[in-house]
Amino acid sequence: MAENDILLGVNIDHVATLRQARYREAGRSCGLVVEPDPIAWALCAERAGADGITMHLREDRRHMQDEDARRLRACIATRLNLEMACTDAMTAIALDLRPDYACLVPENRTEVTTEGGLDVAGQMQRVGQVVDALNSAGVVTSLFIDPEEGQIRAAAELGSPLIELHTGSFSNAWHVPVARAAELVKLERAVELALSLGLTVNAGHGINYFNVADIRAIEGLHELNIGHSIVSRALFTGVDEAVRRMKTLIRGLP
Ligand code: PXP
Repeated sequence: MAENDILLGVNIDHVATLRQARYREAGRSCGLVVEPDPIAWALCAERAGADGITMHLREDRRHMQDEDARRLRACIATRLNLEMACTDAMTAIALDLRPDYACLVPENRTEVTTEGGLDVAGQMQRVGQVVDALNSAGVVTSLFIDPEEGQIRAAAELGSPLIELHTGSFSNAWHVPVARAAELVKLERAVELALSLGLTVNAGHGINYFNVADIRAIEGLHELNIGHSIVSRALFTGVDEAVRRMKTLIRGLP
């Protein structure tokens, strides 16, 4: 890997979404009959070059389950990034699980997927408590925030070493050139500010095989977290090709 390569974290939630569509009530009694297994899928993604695996253990457990988290922790070869709500219950789970990274995200039961970044500036005390508890236990925290100055400064003030910039607005604007350019500038400025404050900057949400060319060109990004597009492509090509292709595009190769 070249020194300035952006890393790829593969989000496996939607493999579990597919499993839950059929096996929501099955529990663990079905054993190996339950397909697809998100952990087996994650190991394939690692073999294809994923630099880390991300899973979101949502409070409503709509896709990933507690047992998935334990199994993934036990067999992951790269780094586990646990996305989690900023609650006491999830903090206790993270302290027990010991992921390498914990990314704090907002959660809303009615949303289809994470919508909007965490309002760090509006809940400094709450987020600060969770960041301190996790960081002092050796779990490196990241805050999933919108590319806004106030949120970035708040994240830096709380001492979270990492942030993940929400690229959803950029992704949604991608088909409208003027809006796309404006969203890209927002992201570029956000990365620049965050780096100047000493933060390590990841990005994610809605990144796909088409818009990744714009994202990779932003100077200073550390890692991209990508789920839906890779899981979707893997249905046609298999996991190996889907992950390798994304890695190639992140590197800017044909
Ligand atoms: N980063 C965060 C914090 C997310 O919540 C999600 C969606 O689960 C992603 C990245 C990945 O988004 P997508 O599935 O659109 O690639």
